[in-house]
Amino acid sequence: MKYHIKNKNLAAEGKKKIDWAAREMTVLSFIEKRFKAEQPLSGLRIAACLHVTTETARLAQVLASGGAEVVVCASNPLSTKDDVAASLVKHDHIAVHAVHGASRTEYYKHLRAALETRPDITLDDGADLLTLLHSTYTKHLGSMLGSTEETTTGVIRLRALEASGALALPVIAVNDAQTKHLFDNRYGTGQSTLDGIIRATNVLIAGKSVVVAGYGWCGKGVAMRADGHGAHVTVVEIDPVRALEAVMDGFAVSTMKQAAPHADIIVTVTGNRDVVDGRVFSILKNGCILANAGHFDVEIDIAGLRKKSSSHSEVRKGVCAYVLSSKKTVYVLAEGRLVNLAAAEGHPSAVMDMSFAGQALAVRYLAEHGQHMEAGVYSLPHDLDQEIAQHKLASMGISHERLTPAQKRYLASWNEGT
Ligand code: NAI
Repeated sequence: MKYHIKNKNLAAEGKKKIDWAAREMTVLSFIEKRFKAEQPLSGLRIAACLHVTTETARLAQVLASGGAEVVVCASNPLSTKDDVAASLVKHDHIAVHAVHGASRTEYYKHLRAALETRPDITLDDGADLLTLLHSTYTKHLGSMLGSTEETTTGVIRLRALEASGALALPVIAVNDAQTKHLFDNRYGTGQSTLDGIIRATNVLIAGKSVVVAGYGWCGKGVAMRADGHGAHVTVVEIDPVRALEAVMDGFAVSTMKQAAPHADIIVTVTGNRDVVDGRVFSILKNGCILANAGHFDVEIDIAGLRKKSSSHSEVRKGVCAYVLSSKKTVYVLAEGRLVNLAAAEGHPSAVMDMSFAGQALAVRYLAEHGQHMEAGVYSLPHDLDQEIAQHKLASMGISHERLTPAQKRYLASWNEGT
């Protein structure tokens, strides 16, 4: 088995962490039981390009339990947990190509190593594997069953590929499942982004002025949790409907130009580039903290900030101070990469449970139907989405109301009016 990890001796610590995460991942454990019995992935090779965290380790174990040969590579060089990678290799005999802090060259070398295994199905978080498949490994596409995509930014990239007519595979956009974005993006990103900022800086959030750029599913979560800590939250949003939603949720809404001079902390979570750039650096308050929770490190223009600074240095792990020519100092967390994964542990396992249950069921769906599916972007079938929510509720010991036969008939009828 070929692999590239930091140090296999970290495996024992990694295993403890994976086992701890497993306690909270009840839906995935249920799927694992079924996979073990039914072997739906028997003989398939699967390449997963995901953040190498404890939760991804559980997903890899579950896919392997269904009969697949699994290879894992990282979807971000700063989110890899080296002990988790070591445990997957040592205890589960799952090939991993991921090292925390890998250079860009090394990062792509890892992705290529995963694709060299000629996978039948790939999993992405940000569409990097799929992009490589459609640019460098086109010869692999013909024999593949399909792919899955975990995050909003990845789905945007693959819809662009589909619109250009070049998408060659069926891809299931797991992000679009209700049991994914309603929970992972909102509650997962909300909690873990605040966790990342606090772990990196140990600043008190109460009383601070926090600007959240982007009021999508993730931004709603970040704003909600910052508010819960006692911050004064201002939302910056380009979509009028979402801006209005933020207003009615009780937040101040403003432009970046108006909000930035008062911000103690700015969090970008838009999936867009240059949200905080040269237009903003010059008006920031001394001591402002900049963090990004969007998928790519393009939301804060770090190269532009460097140019405007007379010096920069790491003042605390993951906190870089930039001294601007105006003598103001601003702090960037985790090099502008996903702060919740780079400075903390990413989403809590209980929420990744649903996202990765969606991934496991999407992979099974592709194994069973991929051969007959046209190239295109697909949603996770509705019944699978519902099934995940059912299992999650059941594992929490919660029963929900069911329709009576009369109610079912009423909802399906058109002639029972006033
Ligand atoms: P979304 O599409 O629901 O929301 C993004 C919002 O940003 C939209 O309302 C859009 O109008 C707004 N926006 C775009 N450009 C803007 C700008 N220049 N200024 C202000 N607002 C702007 O997307 P979602 O699901 O909230 O995801 C956002 C990003 O977070 C994506 O890159 C996604 O991949 C990533 N993500 C990160 C996670 C994490 O663990 N940190 C977890 C899940 C998603």
